[in-house]
Amino acid sequence: MQKAIEHIRSRSRVQPLIGVVLGSGLGAFADELSDRIEMPYSEIPDWPQSTAVGHAGKLVVGSFGGLPVAVMSGRAHLYEGHSMDKVVFGTRVLARLGVKAMVYTNAAGGINLSYSQGALVLVSDHINLQGSSPLIGPNDDTLGPRFPDMSDAYDAGFRKRARAVAERLGIALNEGVYAGLLGPSYETPAEIRYLRAIGADLVGMSTVPEVIAARHMDVRCMAISCVTNMAAGILPRKINHEEVLETGARVRGRLVHLLQELLPEVAAEVS
Ligand code: HPA
Repeated sequence: MQKAIEHIRSRSRVQPLIGVVLGSGLGAFADELSDRIEMPYSEIPDWPQSTAVGHAGKLVVGSFGGLPVAVMSGRAHLYEGHSMDKVVFGTRVLARLGVKAMVYTNAAGGINLSYSQGALVLVSDHINLQGSSPLIGPNDDTLGPRFPDMSDAYDAGFRKRARAVAERLGIALNEGVYAGLLGPSYETPAEIRYLRAIGADLVGMSTVPEVIAARHMDVRCMAISCVTNMAAGILPRKINHEEVLETGARVRGRLVHLLQELLPEVAAEVS
């Protein structure tokens, strides 16, 4: 991690306060930063390359309305064959660079029948069904404790502010529980019925390991899912990645608008 940190520091003097991770097809927010330095992941030592279509693969450090932020446009997923260490590498580097808050975005399937395609959902909690954790193995005590608490993983203070901002902007923002699965196949209808029964409202293939790693390092987290499709078996049609990207593109503007108004609130909450 040290080499990556040194590389980023050599390219930008900005000391980010907030880290943002942009999911599939949701990369537009990175273009909003001023005085930005863009670092393709390929130029940062040890940074995992994202192979998923729709993921740009760059770290953008800059200022957003005077706020120092670091934006990861694209992320590594377990289904790409990356190790857990690689999947959470970006989160840990940003935490080491000093971010006090992480805002994750992702594309997700909607399980809750009250959601519709294109909805934005504030994640209130998660269910880890990836069969692993970024914290397995000897604990690195310099990062955090062996058994970190996860009872406020998706920060209640951030969520309160997010709900208020969405209301002010007239943006509908549901709230729900995100189930993180390994993928890369989409779920079967039976799996979706199971996920609904255990209390999941959303399903996706990311975010959960990153939030665990961030909470381990005592970084406060928020996550917003874009319901790019209704989950398997709900509608009489198949799910495909093109649809996920198309919906992401359609919702991008609304998400950028929400993030623009939300980041100053998150900054106020952590400083
Ligand atoms: N399932 C899992 N991950 C997803 C989905 C889905 O339906 N849509 C977008 N990411």
